[in-house]
Amino acid sequence: MRISASLAVAFVAATLLQSSAAPQVLAQSPATAKPGTHAQSAQKSQAPKAQLAPPQVAQLPPMGWNSWNFFAGKVTDKDIRDSADQIVATGMRDAGYIYVNIDDTWEGERDANGVLHTNSKFPDMRALADYVHSKGLKIGIYSSPGPKTCAGYEGSLGHEQQDADLYASWGIDYLKYDLCSFIPAVMQKQAPDDHAEQMRIMIAAYDKMAKALKATGRPIVLSLCQYGWDAPWEWAPALGGNLWRTTGDIQPHWDRVYTILEQQEGLEKYAGPGHWNDPDMLEVGNGKLSLDENRAHFSMWAMLAAPLLAGNDLPHMKPEIQAILTNRDVIAIDQDRLGRQASRAYADGEVEVWTRHLSGGALAIAVLDAGDNRYSSHPFHLNLALLGLHGPQHAKDLWSGKEVELTNNMPIEINGHDVLLYRIAAPK
Ligand code: GAL
Repeated sequence: MRISASLAVAFVAATLLQSSAAPQVLAQSPATAKPGTHAQSAQKSQAPKAQLAPPQVAQLPPMGWNSWNFFAGKVTDKDIRDSADQIVATGMRDAGYIYVNIDDTWEGERDANGVLHTNSKFPDMRALADYVHSKGLKIGIYSSPGPKTCAGYEGSLGHEQQDADLYASWGIDYLKYDLCSFIPAVMQKQAPDDHAEQMRIMIAAYDKMAKALKATGRPIVLSLCQYGWDAPWEWAPALGGNLWRTTGDIQPHWDRVYTILEQQEGLEKYAGPGHWNDPDMLEVGNGKLSLDENRAHFSMWAMLAAPLLAGNDLPHMKPEIQAILTNRDVIAIDQDRLGRQASRAYADGEVEVWTRHLSGGALAIAVLDAGDNRYSSHPFHLNLALLGLHGPQHAKDLWSGKEVELTNNMPIEINGHDVLLYRIAAPK
């Protein structure tokens, strides 16, 4: 559903207000600025400007971890180091999780030269980046095109190139750029009654940061976070956005996960190598999601070719959550090099069937029960003909690991909020 610009203004404002964690931290003032050693010298020692175009980033959906969904405004340098350690210890790095992303609330204040310093939770960003890199991982950071971030910390408005250079000098590999205060402070102020002009101003702000990052010569993934406002899938790739949020914030309960999933239908044509729809970071292992729901959430994000950014408490991760996040067969669906996002093929009541075309002519099929259990008295019947398949198909069940034979109209019992995920190597 497309929303009109005026509705969108109200929608974004409401999204910001409703954001689960942001209101708690909005009231806080940024922690006392305590300049990191390297932050001070960043403007002097800018990264060398490359003559050649930087290597292309995000050719596959970025994988990693982000601090927001679990730590929100409480995240510290130690949490990031501990999480990086755990990504290695749990096998997540080897399964593909590479980016360790610091979300909002790392920012301190600007000095007289406009150089942004970290706050006391992050005493030395360069040292932290070096630590993360020493683990064979990459590091991400967060800012806003507005004067303030969503949590009320310092944004990049008027300091875009200075900040991009600072990130590059720290060795940052990924930037999440979150619209936040840019809406009232710039868009609504400069064009109070002109929503089309507000959108142009917003797009220009993202373009400005994209160019600033490019000018550093360092390959840095650019993640647009503006809640899917004004169809970013139509304009973000052209300015160099590698991923763009398609909706408001995710939350760790099934209804929100499922609502976001439904909003991805129709966006599949915009995803591809270097530019991805982002249905928001994973909540696997967070909140009250059941094991079935965690598995369904992870499976569907893999079908969507979504960035897989875990957002859970890694040092206290349960083995069953680790098993979900490191299921190599499911990750391989997400990371398939064709980069084709799944579409919903058909639904029978609350059971939906999604398909995704994979490299080598393979096909992934997800059967998702979004509602109540389907028992053997009234099982769901898998209609292979509706998927363009003819006759029995040899498949792998990616959660049981078993080889199975799928037949047309075969009855399937499935729990509510659970998923079956199949890969057919040679569909007929
Ligand atoms: C929201 C964003 C969240 C998180 C938060 C930080 O706007 O959607 O993912 O980054 O801001 O304040």
